[in-house]
Amino acid sequence: MEGGVLYDRGSYGCIYIPPLSCQDNEKNTFTGQYMLDKIMDREPAEEEYRMASRVSKLPLSGNYFVVAKHICTPKPRDEQEEPQIKSCDLLSRRHITSMRILRMPFGGTGIFDKQFDLSKISVLELFQHLLEAVSILNLHGIIHNDLHGGNILIDDNNVPRIIDFNKALFSYEPVGERELTFIYSASYSQISPDYHMINGAVQNIGEDFLIKDFILKRSRTLINPLRVFFGVTENDIEEHFENFIAKSKSYKNRDFQGWFSSHWRTLDSWSLAVIFLEIIYSFSFFPSFESGKWKYEKKRVLSVLGKMLSINPFERLDCIQALNELDKSSKNPGENFVLNKIAKNWLSIV
Ligand SMILES: Nc1ncnc2c1ncn2[C@@H]1O[C@H](COP(=O)(O)OP(=O)(O)OP(=O)(O)O)[C@@H](O)[C@H]1O
Ligand SMILES: [Mg+2]
Repeated sequence: MEGGVLYDRGSYGCIYIPPLSCQDNEKNTFTGQYMLDKIMDREPAEEEYRMASRVSKLPLSGNYFVVAKHICTPKPRDEQEEPQIKSCDLLSRRHITSMRILRMPFGGTGIFDKQFDLSKISVLELFQHLLEAVSILNLHGIIHNDLHGGNILIDDNNVPRIIDFNKALFSYEPVGERELTFIYSASYSQISPDYHMINGAVQNIGEDFLIKDFILKRSRTLINPLRVFFGVTENDIEEHFENFIAKSKSYKNRDFQGWFSSHWRTLDSWSLAVIFLEIIYSFSFFPSFESGKWKYEKKRVLSVLGKMLSINPFERLDCIQALNELDKSSKNPGENFVLNKIAKNWLSIV
């Protein structure tokens, strides 16, 4: 098929299917796989590619992640055949050749857009697979740092995979305000409560406001489901915030690096749990979901999810601990390969 279609606009670039033209004439080298291009500024593209190269070497990477296999410089605009090249706003403000193309396999549909058969869907399988994915990342010192519904794709066999390592961090590299500050907004549900607090605090926003704003802006996506599934009230949430504030030296000192060193393990677990909370909450309005597989999975999933959703990060399970809890309640505990092969030290040390 000739002629690209603008498939999506992210915050960093535009996605084209089929791929654009690269100066090195790299096209469809990866035969048998349906490829797409993400075109973006050079610097974030190179950073994302650096991380993609690491992620692609992780154990069973293809089962859990979709990352760029190739980076290239695009051909000049008049040599691009794609009719919709002009539809990407970013391209109207840049010379196309100053940008870079990341070429990657097509991974499926975003988890919130996928049309699941609610009577057959296994939330437990999706949840376990994604816990394994994040565990593999975290065990290798990689924090995705931007897990939200748009960054989890589901393929035709209902296998979920994580994409978009644009904001990913290494746990062992120093981080500071550049990596961790974001424009204040309490409504980004993937941002954990402690991340929200320290980010707001370094921008001189008062503590009481930060807590109230968090509760107000997330009432529909977080606070209601927490009440419905776990009986957690607004007062409980305020109390958990206060416990964190009382205990955290790094928060008191507005010490980003200290906070990151103490709590990076629970950043992705918070985000993943919020995605699942939203999914379960929206599905639970359908009787076909409640009477399907969910009936048998509910207790196990909710018991782990609740512990990943602790407002106070000192009490929150990370993904490896969560996977371990889930495994303990399975029919055949002790057989999970991630836990057996690479997580032993983590579970005995953390
Ligand atoms: N490999 C892929 N297969 C299928 N769809 C993809 C793929 N990569 C990206 N997309 C689609 O394009 C969207 C934007 O891509 P991506 O998340 O990589 O870019 P972004 O600019 O970092 O986005 P954002 O900041 O909104 O998360 C995704 O949410 C997804 O819908
Ligand atoms: Mg994205």
